[in-house]
Amino acid sequence: MESPTIKSFKLRGTRITDAQLDARHRLWSTYGVDVVDHEVDLGTIFPGEGKIVAEIGFGMGEATIAIAQNFPETRFLAIDVHLPGIGKVLSVIEEAKISNIRVMDEDAHLILGRMIPNDSFDGVHLFFPDPWPKTRHHKRRIVNESFINLVADKLKIGATFNIATDWVPYAISIEETFRRSDRYRGGMIERPDWRPLTRFEGQGLTKDHHVTDFEYKKIK
Ligand SMILES: C[S@@+](CC[C@H](N)C(=O)[O-])C[C@H]1O[C@@H](n2cnc3c(N)ncnc32)[C@H](O)[C@@H]1O
Repeated sequence: MESPTIKSFKLRGTRITDAQLDARHRLWSTYGVDVVDHEVDLGTIFPGEGKIVAEIGFGMGEATIAIAQNFPETRFLAIDVHLPGIGKVLSVIEEAKISNIRVMDEDAHLILGRMIPNDSFDGVHLFFPDPWPKTRHHKRRIVNESFINLVADKLKIGATFNIATDWVPYAISIEETFRRSDRYRGGMIERPDWRPLTRFEGQGLTKDHHVTDFEYKKIK
């Protein structure tokens, strides 16, 4: 699959710090993975034998870093298009000497569609995808029928797709989208103890602002 014309992200006015930019330049060749137009052997990207989990849209990477440190045997492919976050994650990887994260800077649709062989991932994380609350923007929400199908192609049978959202109307639409798919089994779960609490979780929640976690297992 190519990158769709309707994007699920907006490249914001990129306020990037000198440290983030420096990390992007200096560390990319060690921890970054360039986009190519053919499938890649993930074993050549990561040393080791551990499970491979992709995180789509890691933002500033707080959850990415914490989870990678807590699961040193698992290899994490962290995907986003947000340059400050990419710089930030690279600099923390260096500071904290983290060896089990590789970073990719492109639309996840294109990366999964072009570069990732089917049945590759032991898990996919999608935490707080942009909610696109306005009705006219709903078509930009990343969780839709074709995206969850693409993710299913890349997951191994029995592997899990974990999603969290803090926007209740999006949670409802996520559940409906999966209900229409015959490739997954699962649904809403309590926050898994391995997903770090975000800054706003547990704070004043409103009717539409409340964190929902989902876990879906690929069945076919
Ligand atoms: C609302 S932020 C959440 C960031 C982070 N997961 C968190 O919990 O703080 C959503 C992130 O997804 C990224 N994103 C959205 N669509 C994407 C796509 N198609 N490919 C890669 N990244 C994407 C955006 O750039 C943004 O950084």
